[in-house]
Amino acid sequence: MSTRAQRKALVERAIKAKAHAYAPYSRFRVGAAVIAEDGTIIAGCNVENSSYSLTVCAERNAVFQAAARGKTRLRAIAIASDDPGFLPPCGACRQVLSEFNPSMEIILTTVDGRTKVTSLDRLFPMPADLKKLARPRSIQKP
Ligand code: THU
Repeated sequence: MSTRAQRKALVERAIKAKAHAYAPYSRFRVGAAVIAEDGTIIAGCNVENSSYSLTVCAERNAVFQAAARGKTRLRAIAIASDDPGFLPPCGACRQVLSEFNPSMEIILTTVDGRTKVTSLDRLFPMPADLKKLARPRSIQKP
């Protein structure tokens, strides 16, 4: 669990990151910020592409930037958009978040400043987890 002050800081960073959204196609700006177990906050925004399917969501961008800095124990994520409603993470992002904490705290926000706290185990109860799946020691060619 993060503290009230950490949640506030996380939301502020997600809102700030939204300003860097590269969203010329959808014009839907999203910012996200994750807080690692050691208190480090790392933010990301959505980055779209002419080849639409290569677009990366703000949540994945934030998580990947955290991993690239060696932060793979993540406590919470805040997500901000320009929408008057809460924006929950998409399915692909839920799977990526689960890699680094299947019960991560998720702080949803609205453009007018409301927040809702939920958790990944509530939003994504059965993630694919290769660490738990059985595999043979070696694979023989037929
Ligand atoms: N997007 C996010 O960044 N996060 C979400 O949770 C949902 C969608 C982005 C992807 C795309 O750039 C734009 O919002 C419209 O889908």
